[in-house]
Amino acid sequence: MSSGDLTADRRFAYAQLLRRDGDAAAAAEVLAQTIELVPNWPEGRFALAETLAEAGRKYDAIPAYEAYLALDPADFMGAAVKLALLTKATPDTLPEAYLRRLFDEYAPRFEKALIEKLHYRAPQIIRAALDKARAVGTFARAFDLGCGTGLAGAALRDRVAWLGGVDLSAAMIKGAEDKKIYDQLGVGDMVDALDALSAPCELIVAADVLTYVGDLTGVFAAVQRCLAPGGLFAFTVQRHDGDGFALGQEHRFSHGQSYIETLAARRGFAVALMDAAVSRKEKGVDVPGLVVVLRGAKAWRPPGARRYRSPHEAMVPDLSGALAT
Ligand SMILES: C[S@@+](CC[C@H](N)C(=O)[O-])C[C@H]1O[C@@H](n2cnc3c(N)ncnc32)[C@H](O)[C@@H]1O
Repeated sequence: MSSGDLTADRRFAYAQLLRRDGDAAAAAEVLAQTIELVPNWPEGRFALAETLAEAGRKYDAIPAYEAYLALDPADFMGAAVKLALLTKATPDTLPEAYLRRLFDEYAPRFEKALIEKLHYRAPQIIRAALDKARAVGTFARAFDLGCGTGLAGAALRDRVAWLGGVDLSAAMIKGAEDKKIYDQLGVGDMVDALDALSAPCELIVAADVLTYVGDLTGVFAAVQRCLAPGGLFAFTVQRHDGDGFALGQEHRFSHGQSYIETLAARRGFAVALMDAAVSRKEKGVDVPGLVVVLRGAKAWRPPGARRYRSPHEAMVPDLSGALAT
């Protein structure tokens, strides 16, 4: 990470040392001088904002994050989240560029960290929830939203004839490819991927993914468009005790039970199962969550909804009978 100016780079490195030693106030001073040399260096602006926040100078940190965002509207570093937490305004979602960077960096140690340190269990919880909702038999087509390195795919593969997956992070998708269990994988946003599907799915899963999206309206609408009649949408969320959704300090959203019920009703989904479930720990403490299985209407599409013109459409069976109520 170079600013292109040697003196600025040296000051930046010195500021990082001060930060590491816990002297955020001094580091902020050095970074302010650094920025005078390279005012258009986004990483420098971001580091200054971070350091000001660390030093407790919230009202200086806010404009500093805004100055970074003006230079990098894609928000590679995730300044919008920091701003939201500082101003207590809840954003609708997290910036795509930030999530990509986060999970690209996380990918090599993702499974070890998640399973060993965080006791991650969302895929197993979703599988058990499907059993409990009496979704018996094999699903003809399933799609794994935010599939990551493929842990949910691995947990469900024996229940699925065709399995597709999508993730924002190319490095996470590489992990899923290595497992050789998906029939189709793609890098991109889950709503775009759903809209590009060539045939409806009997099962759509999202294991620990909707925690990165606040407003779930778009995801639910896309799932509705892609679910075969009577198909299932199974996912985990972190539980929010109030209405709507909230953003936590750890940059993950939590969702209220009534918020999910309202969105489900709006899309004609029946709640087949909604149980308390702990998918992971955070700093050694169980994170309260929900596991949800929604069932799509047997033959309901809202006016103006996209119709699939895929030649496979006629071949997709109506599983609504097989997925026992
Ligand atoms: C905690 S990981 C869970 C991965 C996987 N589902 C599992 O159970 O191991 C969350 C994943 O969601 C992906 N993600 C977040 N938002 C996304 C979006 N809008 N579209 C596609 N993938 C997304 C991230 O890149 C990350 O790989």
